[in-house]
Amino acid sequence: MIEGIPAPGAYLYNFLTRKRKNLDRVIAEEITNKIEHGKILDIGTGPGFIPIKIAKFNPDLEIIGIDISKTMIKLAKKNAEKAGVNNVTFEVMSAYKLRFLEEQFDLVTSIGALHHFNNPLKAFNEMYRVLKSQREVWIYDFITDTPKKDMRKFLEEVGLPKFPWSIAFRLHGLNYREWTGEISKAAEQSKFDDYKLERNKALMKLILRKF
Ligand SMILES: C[S@@+](CC[C@H](N)C(=O)[O-])C[C@H]1O[C@@H](n2cnc3c(N)ncnc32)[C@H](O)[C@@H]1O
Repeated sequence: MIEGIPAPGAYLYNFLTRKRKNLDRVIAEEITNKIEHGKILDIGTGPGFIPIKIAKFNPDLEIIGIDISKTMIKLAKKNAEKAGVNNVTFEVMSAYKLRFLEEQFDLVTSIGALHHFNNPLKAFNEMYRVLKSQREVWIYDFITDTPKKDMRKFLEEVGLPKFPWSIAFRLHGLNYREWTGEISKAAEQSKFDDYKLERNKALMKLILRKF
């Protein structure tokens, strides 16, 4: 899997995810409800639609979205400008080498990017370093081998049509064995004190806790 999405793919991704807004809203609401004020770091932010929604929902939050792809960050900046939000910023950066000092963030999120990471353990330890203590990291990604019935229910619940989304979610994510195998192993080996997997049909949420 290529880590950063290169230019043509980034434009296509920007175009398609614009149409995913019902699901983005569900995730953005869940994240916004977690903290009232403070700083959120979103890793592998892509075109930035979810951080932009969070910024709109709560102007007291400060959100920084980072991505290794220059094109994605250019698109995210444009999308934020169009949305007229000024409590979200975007920077080109690698998940493995964050420019921030220790214990800066109240919540670290990552959505749909984990399956791109060649070294999840290294990314988890960087997230740990920049996260304040008594806080959590929320990592969302799709479960590619979700049973058909669950995929249908999930799409109904988030208000997305079966086409193209069932195909997109089956291509972009990790299978259940990868979640419970190599990803859980990396979470266990990481500096985090605790972790938990929460499954909502086609979407997995990995919660990493720092005590
Ligand atoms: C499938 S997109 C998800 C984008 C967005 N979070 C969303 O929910 O639509 C994954 C993103 O992760 C970025 N990415 C992959 N590896 C990365 C890394 N090591 N550091 C930072 N970003 C990375 C890619 O460039 C891409 O924009």
